[in-house]
Amino acid sequence: MKYVKPAFYLFLVGNILLALAVELRYPQLAWLFLLTGPLLILGLWDLFQAKNSILRNYPILGHFRYLAESIAPEIQQYFIERHTDGTPISRNHRNLVNARANGESPTQPFGTELDVYSKHYSGIVHSAYPAEPLEEAPRIVFGNHQCSQPYSASLYNISAMSYGSLGDTAIKALSLGAKDGNFSLNTGEGSLTEHHLHGGCDIVWQIGTGYFGCRHDDGSFNSDAFVERAKKPEVKMIELKISQGAKPGHGGILPASKNSQEIADIRMVEPGTTVYSPPGHKEFHDAAGLLKFLRRLRSLSEGKPVGFKLCLGSKREFEEICEEMNRLEIYPDFITVDGGEGGTGAAPLEYSDSVGIPMRPALAFIHEELSRRGLRDKIRLIASGKVVTAFDVLRTLALGADTCNAARAFMLSLGCIQAQRCDTNECPSGVATTNPKYTRGLVVEQKRHRVTAFHEKTLEAVLELSAACGVADPRNITPDLLVHGTQWEGFADTTAG
Ligand SMILES: Cc1cc2nc3c(=O)[nH]c(=O)nc-3n(C[C@H](O)[C@H](O)[C@H](O)COP(=O)(O)O)c2cc1C
Ligand code: SF4
Repeated sequence: MKYVKPAFYLFLVGNILLALAVELRYPQLAWLFLLTGPLLILGLWDLFQAKNSILRNYPILGHFRYLAESIAPEIQQYFIERHTDGTPISRNHRNLVNARANGESPTQPFGTELDVYSKHYSGIVHSAYPAEPLEEAPRIVFGNHQCSQPYSASLYNISAMSYGSLGDTAIKALSLGAKDGNFSLNTGEGSLTEHHLHGGCDIVWQIGTGYFGCRHDDGSFNSDAFVERAKKPEVKMIELKISQGAKPGHGGILPASKNSQEIADIRMVEPGTTVYSPPGHKEFHDAAGLLKFLRRLRSLSEGKPVGFKLCLGSKREFEEICEEMNRLEIYPDFITVDGGEGGTGAAPLEYSDSVGIPMRPALAFIHEELSRRGLRDKIRLIASGKVVTAFDVLRTLALGADTCNAARAFMLSLGCIQAQRCDTNECPSGVATTNPKYTRGLVVEQKRHRVTAFHEKTLEAVLELSAACGVADPRNITPDLLVHGTQWEGFADTTAG
């Protein structure tokens, strides 16, 4: 690499000699500048620009480093990754979603690739007396005695993803797929849009700290706008977002470049401006305030089920919410527990990597806490955080959830290839982008069937696996059926090569 700069100077001198030769004797060689000219301009620009030291030190060649870096994820995914590798979702699981979305019931040849002796291994105990699988997955009724419009939900539904983080074609395909498969679609905090309503599926309308779609100009809650949307028949439940696993305690930013007239109208903000949603809610600042606000939302929506989504942080804060529920006698209809492993369109690395309790311990704690205080029968639990396979669903139910939500698995069913460019508006599969150049690649009429098939095949597998454990109804699966590699750590083979 130390010869790059001298080589460039030689190239420069070569070009000067070429220019002299063309000028004095060989004008027919002028076409050579078509090849060398652009490189020369690029090299000179690299050499004199002040922003990038690699390019200043390694003119022209430095660009190859950035080119290689930009395609490293693809090289890793296509040529290096093993079946059990790949984050956030392993290749095996991505292939599983893809096969189920194609309507297949995939099989695995030659045995597991997992290290079943690893302490990270987890599984479930089958029975010598398998049950007869249910023909149809059970539905779960949401809405306690304080709710007047209960909703009967699927065991597996689409988690919150806003229009803006996903494109219009992706949301339309999800909406149509959910309608055909009779499950629900959560709007995400970006509010309810025509795209969500496109297929006529059941909708969970999420309200975040920005109160998008139900806000005044100063960012406070607008009850009239809320009522207008909440009364739509497709809206079956209202979810208030306190926090999400990928960025708990962090608000969102809608950059001015993404804030088109359409998005601004939907979210009730000024178009072309950068919009910040604050980390916390303006309408309440403590547990009592949260519960009173939920009661207000339930009353404004004429008794639809209301609940809140959180990634567990301080356990003490959650205990306070439970204490206040009993004191005020206000019972949310559901709580959505999102794990720290959750996904997002874009989040600061520190928040994704280091903030928020993972889903499984959070769910177990919340289930236990509600049960201990006599609240569990009034409140349904939804859980999300990499619930991709039938085993994931069963394990989540065993740990206390009534239903599961999935975001990235449904993105994979739409054709996401885990290129992890969701924050650039240049998603190659047209899923996480609003740029028509890419969204046109996602054909709604084709993808809607993949969404339905993925859901259907996953629930089929849930019923089958549950029956293999001797439990016909997956709602009755219990945590004692779960096993962990830590239980047989002493048997691990440490000598094999
Ligand atoms: C592209 C994208 C956008 C998301 N937008 C929201 C959102 O608006 N509100 C929210 O509560 N969660 C949002 N999430 C988080 C998901 O709803 C979900 O809780 C999380 O990704 C865990 O589920 P998963 O592991 O199945 O992806 C988003 C996730 C993704 C991948
Ligand atoms: S394919 Fe699109 S949606 Fe999937 S990870 Fe990449 S950028 Fe995100």
